[in-house]
Amino acid sequence: MNSFVFDKLPCGCEITAYEIGNDTVRATILNYGGIIQKLEYKGTDIIGGYDTLEGYQVSDGYQGALIGRYANRIRGGRFTLNGVEYQLAQNESARGNHLHGGNIGYDAKIWGVEYKQDNDGEHLVLTLTDPDGTENYPGTVEIKVTYSVCGEDFSIHYEATTDKDTPFNMTNHAYLNMNGIAGGQIYDQTLQVNADYMSKVDDALIPVDKIPVDGTAFDFRTPKLLSRELMFCDDEQMKLGAGLDHNLYITTDEATLYQGKKLAKAAVFAGKLGALTLYTDKPCVQFYAANFMEGDYPFKGGLKRERNGALCLETQFAPDGPNRGEAILKVGEKYDYTALFRFDA
Ligand code: GAL
Repeated sequence: MNSFVFDKLPCGCEITAYEIGNDTVRATILNYGGIIQKLEYKGTDIIGGYDTLEGYQVSDGYQGALIGRYANRIRGGRFTLNGVEYQLAQNESARGNHLHGGNIGYDAKIWGVEYKQDNDGEHLVLTLTDPDGTENYPGTVEIKVTYSVCGEDFSIHYEATTDKDTPFNMTNHAYLNMNGIAGGQIYDQTLQVNADYMSKVDDALIPVDKIPVDGTAFDFRTPKLLSRELMFCDDEQMKLGAGLDHNLYITTDEATLYQGKKLAKAAVFAGKLGALTLYTDKPCVQFYAANFMEGDYPFKGGLKRERNGALCLETQFAPDGPNRGEAILKVGEKYDYTALFRFDA
């Protein structure tokens, strides 16, 4: 493991970058936001991100960051739990929703970091205490996120406990490009998803129904090109999302055993560098094709940020879960989910 000072906060506090991995897969992780700043496959960087902390702070999009306490949206920032109504920040102001944990989410926290190595590979264990009342969520949550590189596997293991029942739904917002992040838009790349159902959303991008993907633009059960035509097609749901920005329910018996857990084969994302297979024990994945990734602020090395220049595969519970009585972490329970990105060119 290598570590170096990545940047400094205005207070002078140092932000450290940690590199783990091997000749095939290498990851650079920051203690700020648990951000995956670099993810290299056979020497090519496949993830969006910046050279400085300023990039992550001034340019939105949650590049490579850990997301919580509740990933994706909660309608109106409101939910009722155990008879108490909670109002969270409506930080997605255009739609009035709570998005990705609120004004200061896990993407902007300083995480504790510990390095571990074993026969499987290298691991970085990130920890955070999220106190009761932060962003108006109930309960103090103790969180542990383990990033691992084991051979050609890159994984994120999320663990948490709480002292009061609370909505809890963590993910990572990695923007991936299987031609390499310098490889342009993803229109020549393919996506296959083992999902029979999707969330149908309204114009606030909040699920209103769970519908079969049959006959829709979201039937990825066989590999499909992430073409410009698909992103801009006439499908009403595609138009609402300004392209692919939808929650799919993973429905498959195909699985792998990883770190003692059975993980479902959720998706295969493939480009010139080969295929990346996502396995998870989370019920859903948000597929977001960087539809809002625009603006002047450049990526690492001065690279242009472009709409559809990457794909996010965000393992999660379906958006707005707390308003359906879902995705509640209860006192005494352990939150324990894994996302495994397996490179298999
Ligand atoms: C995604 C979400 C998008 C957008 C993005 C951040 O998870 O589905 O609609 O908000 O995060 O720019």
